Amino acid sequence: MAMSTHLSKISHNAAIILLLTTGLVVVLAGTEISGKPNIIIIMADDLGFDDVSFRGSNNFLTPNIDALAYSGVILNNLYTAPMCTPSRAALLTGKYPINTGMQHYVIVNDQPWGLPLNETTMADIFRGNGYRTSLIGKWHLGMSQRNYTPTLRGFDYHLGYLGAYVDYYNQSYEQVSKGYRGHDFRENLKPNHEHVDKYVTDILTDAAVREIDDHAAKNNSKPLFLLLNHLAPHAANDADPMQAPADELSGFEYIRDETHRYYAAMVSRLDKSVGHVVDALARQDMLQNSILLFLSDNGGPTLGEHATTASNYPLRGQKNSPWEGGIRSSAAIWSTEFERLGSVWKQQIYIGDLLPTLAAAAGISPDPDLRLDGLNLWSALKYGYESVEREIVHVIDEEAPEPHLAYTRGKWKVVSGTTNSGRYDGWLGERVTTEVDPRSQEYEALIQNTSVWLQLQKVSGGERNISGLRQQARIECPATTEDEHTPCLPLEAPCLFDIEADPCEQNNLYEEYKNTTVFQDLWQRVQQFTAQAHPPNNKPGDPSCNPAFYHNEWTWWQDETPSNSAFSLKNSIFLILLLNSWWIF
Ligand SMILES: *[C@@H]1O[C@H](CO)[C@@H](O)[C@H](O)[C@H]1NC(C)=O
Ligand SMILES: *[C@@H]1O[C@H](CO)[C@@H](O)[C@H](O)[C@H]1NC(C)=O
Ligand SMILES: *[C@@H]1O[C@H](CO)[C@@H](O)[C@H](O)[C@H]1NC(C)=O
Ligand SMILES: *[C@@H]1O[C@H](CO)[C@@H](O)[C@H](O)[C@H]1NC(C)=O
Ligand SMILES: *[C@@H]1O[C@H](CO)[C@@H](O)[C@H](O)[C@H]1NC(C)=O
Ligand SMILES: *[C@@H]1O[C@H](CO)[C@@H](O)[C@H](O)[C@H]1NC(C)=O
Repeated sequence: MAMSTHLSKISHNAAIILLLTTGLVVVLAGTEISGKPNIIIIMADDLGFDDVSFRGSNNFLTPNIDALAYSGVILNNLYTAPMCTPSRAALLTGKYPINTGMQHYVIVNDQPWGLPLNETTMADIFRGNGYRTSLIGKWHLGMSQRNYTPTLRGFDYHLGYLGAYVDYYNQSYEQVSKGYRGHDFRENLKPNHEHVDKYVTDILTDAAVREIDDHAAKNNSKPLFLLLNHLAPHAANDADPMQAPADELSGFEYIRDETHRYYAAMVSRLDKSVGHVVDALARQDMLQNSILLFLSDNGGPTLGEHATTASNYPLRGQKNSPWEGGIRSSAAIWSTEFERLGSVWKQQIYIGDLLPTLAAAAGISPDPDLRLDGLNLWSALKYGYESVEREIVHVIDEEAPEPHLAYTRGKWKVVSGTTNSGRYDGWLGERVTTEVDPRSQEYEALIQNTSVWLQLQKVSGGERNISGLRQQARIECPATTEDEHTPCLPLEAPCLFDIEADPCEQNNLYEEYKNTTVFQDLWQRVQQFTAQAHPPNNKPGDPSCNPAFYHNEWTWWQDETPSNSAFSLKNSIFLILLLNSWWIF
């Protein structure tokens, strides 16, 4: 099928039309980036769609993220995968998880698999083009072998953890079902205990600030590619999942539910991180030359595993589900290059588009042999175009016991099958209006007093209609009661939605369209992707990962010699066996 040529033709035409207006654009944009831009990506973990306040919630505010959103471009239709490992794989490879074998669930710490070693990462590409590449925070793309880990996958520097998540203070991960527990925090390849007892959001923020300061101290000799993958607001180990510093909690005493109060504080500390990063870039005079992106890896978990009270209101579903609540991220991007700063961009963009899009911003053309699924939307983004018809494979997971898929082309979305026997299929999150952040009384003044706002105004000032943008970023559901819905039972038949008119997936159009070419073309395309999917890389847990064998560290166990007392018993048994066999022979 000639989908990709068709699409590139559209963008090519767009580029020609846009070229005609370039003269004007330069004048409007004022300051152009000179040389390759610094790329700064801040990614939250499991942040709900409605857990930023730029979409209208006053339950708890995120003034720095909001200031970035209003100063830059709100990515109103940024789609990720519904879970962490697939989403991060798509970000770093520019490919659908079904094309790299990363589509099924996530890597549990004891499992010996990862992003295939023959895949090229975004970090490889930027490093190969003269960038310093730095990962601060979470990896979660494999650690059973040393070669799976970030500094062997294109990152010059890594400070953070390799597995799924850690404790916010002691940086340990417990796999309760197997009784494995160990510390998981490293600087490059070495376990790092320097920060034990410090709050991890602050550790990661400080490390990002240090990277920015170092970069400036080295006279900006290389442009910086910085991926700041926060733990926040993901839950920590089951024994104590919600963790926030006392000074952050004190701002949220009006929230009665304790879990929700902790969640608000976890998000709020994350919000402050965005402020500190922007401050550092401003202090080092790097803002002008930087592209700043904020997003979440997937939707928030309202129910079930690692639930945090996250809310994807008013969207359907949540993390680990095929619905919009699992895959639509509240995201924003800023660069002095953008012609329409202070706008809501409705173009659909997939997390895998970020690689080719940001590469294009840096004048890098990825090798066509990489066969990326992501599209280069840089010129559409730069000039505010919204007309590229995008197809997106959100999820195709054929792995038993619960096969499910979600696919979009243009305004049409198909969902078939679901997760957790349908437990996450409802409208799960709410917008709490009974408990209101006192700062929302002076919302606009609060935003305009953030350092993010003040710094970004200095380099790309101009009128911004804060309340207008907040209004535009609000999602309205057509139906207000379930009686008005046309139900979808995805375990019985596929469902079809017009996602533009019905972002809340209330009105299933399958019965109406099932015999038409609209549905049949979509279905055929989905079958094609399914048939060509790479088999999932997942492997069952391997007991030799047990951190007890490796000084209580989670490590690349397949490359390590177990060394401490827990293993000496194993060693001696091995020795006895060896002696025995020698005796036999
Ligand atoms: C990596 O290797 C796998 C298995 O051999 C293969 O299916 C896949 O196409 C390879 N990927 C790349 C990018 O070469
Ligand atoms: C880390 O902290 C958690 C929660 O307080 C606790 O359950 C766990 O035992 C601690 N682990 C280590 C290694 O200190
Ligand atoms: C920084 O780089 C510029 C341009 O290469 C050079 O002119 C300047 O002397 C350098 N400054 C320092 C402190 O190295
Ligand atoms: C603005 O921010 C500063 C520094 O954070 C603070 O001291 C001041 O009270 C704030 N002003 C208003 C009006 O919120
Ligand atoms: C801001 O946007 C709102 C809603 O779109 C509109 O009603 C208002 O007139 C705008 N204000 C200004 C100053 O443009
Ligand atoms: C769709 O096609 C089937 C089989 O050809 C037919 O029985 C059914 O009535 C058609 N439904 C609609 C809504 O046209």
